[in-house]
Amino acid sequence: MAATIIDGKARAASLRSEVAAGVADFVAAHGRAPGLTVVLVGDDPASNVYVRSKGKATTEAGMISGEHRLPATVTEADLLALVAALNADPAVDGILVQLPLPKHIDADRVIAAIDPAKDVDGFHPVNAGRLATGLAALVPCTPSGCLILIEDALGDISGAEALVIGRSNIVGKPMAALLTAKSATVTLAHSRTRDLAGHVGRADIVVAAVGIPAMVKGDWLKPGACVIDVGINRVTAADGTSRLVGDVDFASALPRAGSITPVPGGVGPMTIACLLANTLKAARARAA
Ligand code: GUN
Repeated sequence: MAATIIDGKARAASLRSEVAAGVADFVAAHGRAPGLTVVLVGDDPASNVYVRSKGKATTEAGMISGEHRLPATVTEADLLALVAALNADPAVDGILVQLPLPKHIDADRVIAAIDPAKDVDGFHPVNAGRLATGLAALVPCTPSGCLILIEDALGDISGAEALVIGRSNIVGKPMAALLTAKSATVTLAHSRTRDLAGHVGRADIVVAAVGIPAMVKGDWLKPGACVIDVGINRVTAADGTSRLVGDVDFASALPRAGSITPVPGGVGPMTIACLLANTLKAARARAA
């Protein structure tokens, strides 16, 4: 039987309406709307698209959207000064510095300069450490969204075999921490992993976040597995047309998986919805 295709767009829409309702309550209680400010350095076209859709979603949820666009030539000192000003601004609950940053700027230093209470990306070492040790934290948006889709599909995942492919700080590592906290048995695979196909074949849950188009083949999967595809890869066909594909070979995975996210329309919309949820959470914590 073909897999259920997980509708991330619909799930994100329902999460966004929950957030909007929470924002309305927040405004009634505190007389101000939560604020999310995005900082974009340079003019990377993909980043531009992300930032525009983040701004629109923020406003639609009833929150205040701030945006700072800095030239690619901005100095690290000037960027750090902007972060310090946003940290000190009481109207700003969430700060997101869009990555990647230009080479001459130390992204780790910039992330570490963000007030952890306003770190709605969950990238600050304080939040990463809190997540790893099971304390309340702002959690990175993409893995948060993946976990929601996994639990919707499978219910309780205690004892399930989960394979995360990719060990980035943005997705793979926090994803492994979230699945561990839910009592799954977690394997974190990466570019040096031997026999990846063998690991995939044992997994009830596969989260692919490697950035290699169609790398995970359908016939590697355990029949009935829940497959979450974080990859967004633009590939150009021989005729010059381009399309987005994930890290999983969707056509061969579809007849074998139990449930699978499409690309686009799977994980992507969940990331922005979780960013809005994190901003509301940060605003509530700061107002408490
Ligand atoms: N670039 C691509 N995805 C992200 C994200 O989730 N957060 C930030 N800050 N930059 C990104």
